[in-house]
Amino acid sequence: MSSRWTDELAFATDLARRAGAILTDSYGRVERIDYKSKRDVVTNADYASERLVIDAIRDRFPGDAILAEESGEHAGVLRDDGSNNGRTWVIDPLDGTVNYANGIPYYCVSIGLVVDDVPTVGVILDPARDDLYAATVDGPATLGGEPIAASAKLTLSDYVVSLAVIGRGGLARERKIAPLIRIHRRMGSAALALAYVANGRFDAFVQNGGLSPWDVAAAGLIAERGGAVVTDITGGPWWNPKLRGPRTSVVAAPAAQHAALLELLGSLRTSLQTRR
Ligand code: IPD
Ligand code: CA
Ligand code: CA
Repeated sequence: MSSRWTDELAFATDLARRAGAILTDSYGRVERIDYKSKRDVVTNADYASERLVIDAIRDRFPGDAILAEESGEHAGVLRDDGSNNGRTWVIDPLDGTVNYANGIPYYCVSIGLVVDDVPTVGVILDPARDDLYAATVDGPATLGGEPIAASAKLTLSDYVVSLAVIGRGGLARERKIAPLIRIHRRMGSAALALAYVANGRFDAFVQNGGLSPWDVAAAGLIAERGGAVVTDITGGPWWNPKLRGPRTSVVAAPAAQHAALLELLGSLRTSLQTRR
């Protein structure tokens, strides 16, 4: 089946590879780290990767808007009548920055395209493993070009879950969830972990906030097209174009266990948090 978004997917794939090459080149020799806040760091590779991605989009799709982690919102060139074309590229030039800066090879580039508020194209590249996850809204999720599918495990007790219950009491809640699943992990790159749901490397992904649009735009679509059910922590839509700041939460799991996970989180009174 041919996708309506073949050109954008090919463009985003090439771009993720070029941005990934910048990250790989600087890996292990981080020259400068800026401390954005107590927990957030940003490296020169973040900036260089973002610059490359923005310049390439500007060049190829001048009418498209861009939302990028380090530099924020960039409007596209408007039409003659002053309207925009409804397309926004949502970019995290390096997700898993703390891992990257510390030499832990678990990080990725995330490039998503949102059209009329609908996540439409998503590419996640893990340069360390050369794993390229991708999806379009009208096609399958793929890894290295091959279609992939979310976990088919039958019981929650077999699940390996990317679990980050943030905020006060988060760890206590994680301890209550732990006996009900096989194991939980917090890998440090939410975008890559969420993409893993698309091929069952993680059976499910849970984070009750602290995520921004660029963390989820590509990976949420990839998990969904892999067959997982993806929602926010309340069971509502995972993509909310109006949310700004780290106010996004995600629960992604195969249909068989998604409701059970939501119920479990609800029973532990797990609410949306914005601070880790
Ligand atoms: C962070 C990582 C982390 C997640 C945070 C994100 P960054 O992104 O994805 O795993 O827990 O919520 O902000 O700062 O590495 O791009
Ligand atoms: Ca991020
Ligand atoms: Ca980032």
